[in-house]
Amino acid sequence: MKQPYFPCENLSVKDGVLQFAGQSTAALAAQYGTPLYLLDEARIRQNCRVYLDAFKAHFPAGSLPHYASKANACKAIYRLMTEEGMGVDVVSPGEIFTAKSAGFDLARAFFHGNNKTDVDIAFAMDCGVGCFVVDNEEELCAVEREAAARGRTQNVILRLTPGIDTHTYAAVNTGKVDSKFGAAIETGQAEALTKSALQKDHIALLGFHCHIGSQVFEEDVFERAAVIMIAFMAQMKKAYDFTTQLLNLGGGYGVPYVEADGSIDIPAKIATLAGVINAACAEGGIPVPRIAMEPGRSIVADAGLTLYTVGAVKRIPGYKNYVSIDGGMADNPRFALYKSSYTCFAANRMDEEPDMEASLVGRCCESGDIIQERVPFPSSVGRGDLVAVCTTGAYNYAMASNYNRLCRPATVMLGENGNYVAVRRETFEDLTALDA
Ligand code: LLP
Repeated sequence: MKQPYFPCENLSVKDGVLQFAGQSTAALAAQYGTPLYLLDEARIRQNCRVYLDAFKAHFPAGSLPHYASKANACKAIYRLMTEEGMGVDVVSPGEIFTAKSAGFDLARAFFHGNNKTDVDIAFAMDCGVGCFVVDNEEELCAVEREAAARGRTQNVILRLTPGIDTHTYAAVNTGKVDSKFGAAIETGQAEALTKSALQKDHIALLGFHCHIGSQVFEEDVFERAAVIMIAFMAQMKKAYDFTTQLLNLGGGYGVPYVEADGSIDIPAKIATLAGVINAACAEGGIPVPRIAMEPGRSIVADAGLTLYTVGAVKRIPGYKNYVSIDGGMADNPRFALYKSSYTCFAANRMDEEPDMEASLVGRCCESGDIIQERVPFPSSVGRGDLVAVCTTGAYNYAMASNYNRLCRPATVMLGENGNYVAVRRETFEDLTALDA
């Protein structure tokens, strides 16, 4: 039998059962029930260290990777980020509250968003968020107002669009001029926003931010973005004598979900990026600023796996086969939203030849409730079998809903000092807790 493709080295097979982080998925499903999100603590830490070590080796002192907590935000993860010495990126008062509840030092947080309300801004300031990533002029004025009201100065970087099209899927392609995010360099709006920030009494402008997209595999997009940003920085030095201290290049590298994705050597990419940054700064006659990046997916995606139980297998002669599971688009909407690829297995039948193909579908009441199409399964698969969907640590729990009044699954952390429930399974009482 052909060895299956595993998107991450934390997957293996023992006695016909898929193992995740060295543990039996069958035993975990029996203990905690399904659907179930699993997280591999050692892998999260290892993924952080890849960025931390490369940053230390190649970027100026004070440079720091910030975990984009939108990928998966819960207290357990913020605690790991504290322990690993990562910064974080937060995008809402809810993420700020969660990070704070976990004891995360928000001085090491970037606060993002293209529409931060006055209430959000006040809350973030009162929680001590270190740096605001300001998106537009109206927001800049609101931050100035709130900082003035508190008699303090707020550290700020400005979100710019370098005008790069990453050719990832449209929903996550954000670096183009035509974007709801940031101020475009090309149109002069980036310069206008910079000028305005420099004139504000309660804004300390540290530098600039760009985020060109997510799940990006193209060879040199970070390098191209950096070159454009650094040329702008040199221009700001000339025009306003403004020295950029901090350049934040946004989200991290793409991760493999299926064999066709290939993989990225992150330390090598960061080394190359550093070379490009140093050269561009030398050419522009400006000092190399501190560098930040905001990896989300590449920190948690391959540290996650979802387990489901099969309820029914439907074979429609002349059409196709359907394997129905006890979760679906409510716990993983990514195929429904983006047609995202996943590697999936009948986790308790790993020693059987996958001799049929089926659509892996959820239990929600709509036909678009698909986790993956054309999944190879052994034809013996049936009710009670276990299905594993790999690489679900990013943007699954984070995007889960209660559609059809389904309870969100638990997240179990496969910890270095034992397993623990990082997020408990929702109950029917949770579902009705807010109802009048
Ligand atoms: N920084 C900013 C400003 C971002 O907007 C994002 C992602 C990140 C960092 C993290 O990017 P990453 O390292 O995770 O690629 N829901 C979509 C992904 C949306 C990404 C949004 N922004 C998905 O499930 O694929």
